[in-house]
Amino acid sequence: METQFRTKDYIETIDLTRQELDTLIEVAFDLKRRNAMGEYQDHLLRAKTLYMIFLDNSTRTRNAFETAMTQLGGHAHFLTDSTLQIAHGETPEDTGVILSSMGHGIAIRHDLILNEGNAWMRAVAKHASCPVINLQCDVDHPTQTLADLMTAYEQFGRDLRGRKICMSWAYTKKYAKPLSVPQGVITLFTRFGMDVTLAMPPEYNLLPRCIEAARKNAEESGGKFEIVHDMDAGCENADIIYAKSWGPYDMMLERQGASPERMKALEEDMIKLNGKYKDWICDQRRMNLGSKDCIYMHCLPAERNAEVTDEVHDGPRSVVFREAENRLHTAKAILTTFLGGKPGLRTSQ
Ligand code: CP
Repeated sequence: METQFRTKDYIETIDLTRQELDTLIEVAFDLKRRNAMGEYQDHLLRAKTLYMIFLDNSTRTRNAFETAMTQLGGHAHFLTDSTLQIAHGETPEDTGVILSSMGHGIAIRHDLILNEGNAWMRAVAKHASCPVINLQCDVDHPTQTLADLMTAYEQFGRDLRGRKICMSWAYTKKYAKPLSVPQGVITLFTRFGMDVTLAMPPEYNLLPRCIEAARKNAEESGGKFEIVHDMDAGCENADIIYAKSWGPYDMMLERQGASPERMKALEEDMIKLNGKYKDWICDQRRMNLGSKDCIYMHCLPAERNAEVTDEVHDGPRSVVFREAENRLHTAKAILTTFLGGKPGLRTSQ
């Protein structure tokens, strides 16, 4: 087990080696098991402080990390852009220096605009002396996909080679969701020798660098990566159907620097475009196209009867609530490993 991580920060799963990711999973299983036994774990991060900066809403991520810090004996500060001086233009570099001079970790959600969040948190990380954890950016949602990996291991065992996961776009009538979950899924699961299929309508492409990384990972791990524009074809023989919505690539790019009026018009255009693909829903017929072991995954929140039918969401093949609970156990693994562990051994990237 690799305990001397090369990076002080957890920003993209691609920054960590397979061995480092396996260590996080081992620790998560250990903490989950011990939690089930009612063991107190409040000595692990006693008196340590995590600053959590949220530039977007959250149910699971915020509560997983806040609960994790409570259980580990530390404290999490919930901060938003409007409660910090970043609303008045304080730079990410200065924010990193200041917060890390007081506390032990900084966690950030900055996911709404392509080409902004990841760069912002990397600027914080470069100047922070403590670890920086990505709670979702425009590129990756690495605390989510670690929980997804743990859930897949619970379902199928530790060898995922040859298992097929279909990461599919799904219809929404509500709002344009970030691209980070599908990007995180295709760049993580291709490292585990899986057969990864990305199913999406043509307008819903992902960041080219994530597509390239998924292809390279599949080559290196002996897995497969393919893109299809047909949800049925993606679901065929899948062991995991991970069906969720995200925004159309070109319009998501246009959000950069857009005025509030332009943002509103873009949002309306996106919802209109989504309407062309109302039949992209994960229903029982599509689940039946999968393998006999096929499970339904979703990071949540899922839009019921748009992305997924109630029957599938609440059915026996759905693991979404265990996946959500695993956010807590994986959050604790990330926090104990990055804020605890042997921090002196790590260097900045
Ligand atoms: N899956 C996820 O990140 O949920 P929240 O947006 O509620 O944190």
